[in-house]
Amino acid sequence: MNSVKFWRDLPEQFEDALQRARRLEIPGRLQISSRLVVNYAKPQEVLIVGMGGSAIGGDLLKDWALGSVAVPLEVCRDYHIPIYAGSKSLVIAVSYSGDTEETLSAFIEAVSRGCMVVAVTSGGILAYLCRRMGIPMVELPGGMVPRSAIAYLLFPLIVVLEKLGLVSGIEGELQEAIEILRRIRDEVVPEVPITKNRSKRLAAVLSDSIPVIYGDRFSRGVALRSRTQVNENSKLLALSGFLPELDHNDVLGWEAPVEYTKRFTVVFLRTADDAQEMKLRAELTRDLIADKAKRIVEVFPEGSSLLAKMLSIMYIVDVASIYLAVLNGVDPTATTSINKLKSQLGDRTKVIDHVKKEVDAILD
Ligand code: PA5
Repeated sequence: MNSVKFWRDLPEQFEDALQRARRLEIPGRLQISSRLVVNYAKPQEVLIVGMGGSAIGGDLLKDWALGSVAVPLEVCRDYHIPIYAGSKSLVIAVSYSGDTEETLSAFIEAVSRGCMVVAVTSGGILAYLCRRMGIPMVELPGGMVPRSAIAYLLFPLIVVLEKLGLVSGIEGELQEAIEILRRIRDEVVPEVPITKNRSKRLAAVLSDSIPVIYGDRFSRGVALRSRTQVNENSKLLALSGFLPELDHNDVLGWEAPVEYTKRFTVVFLRTADDAQEMKLRAELTRDLIADKAKRIVEVFPEGSSLLAKMLSIMYIVDVASIYLAVLNGVDPTATTSINKLKSQLGDRTKVIDHVKKEVDAILD
């Protein structure tokens, strides 16, 4: 199955993504038209614009950046960018296909406002428009499912921040993450039996219940990613939340009658948060709901850097979502309902036509 290949090659994809991103040239000054000039200098804030599998790299970046990037960083899943975005904002427009209307709409808004725009895409309309306007772009290999291209949708973001002076000294962390992913791969591939394979075990545990995936402040993005992997690959509903916030709302949901709560299996993603208060919270929360959930499992990270820890957990759960698809007899790569909605909307909203006209007007 193709999907297994995508996930098996993940460490090599991260390496390739790094090389592709490093080849990107960001100009100091870009004259898009006689009226529109962009100066690429150290940004005051960062916006990652994208949807679904292309946006999630932004969430991972945001968690990773908590301790290392000194400017605000937001993920924007919308047709529009926030009102504060302007010439001092770095906007990275990410769309694997390059044809997602929300991303294209936000992209052209950012270009019109003179933001420092960089695109990450495998082609489509986004690549075409970037070429027309000379906007810097990291070109990705085609033929993948967007969510499986996470290496290409995350590492270029880090490299763009590096190129614009927002992070430095990260080579060791990137290389450690790739090394750890290689080790995880050797454990989670189909050839390894369930007794030694954490992803197979997780899929088996989740197979007869509704997954509830809880992260902490360094795995908010991984928890969201895990939920959406279960949705998109395994074709199942799932819930997600993160500590400490879930201690102020979700925990009350666990007071529901046990006949109801026993349908849910909780997966705690125990990432990198070594703070005493967070460890204690994770343990107390787990104990509080222990009798209410069908089961509780914990996934622990590998590696020493934050990135390795985040990505090791992500990889284990990603692959589990593929095994869960196999157990459910569904194709993990199919996106029938997403495609249907995209085409129904595209026919009626005409957003893409509007975006193309905007580009014509800018270049006129
Ligand atoms: O994983 C998926 O296939 C989806 O979530 C897509 O990423 C989403 O629909 C956006 O499409 P694209 O990534 O091509 O911009």
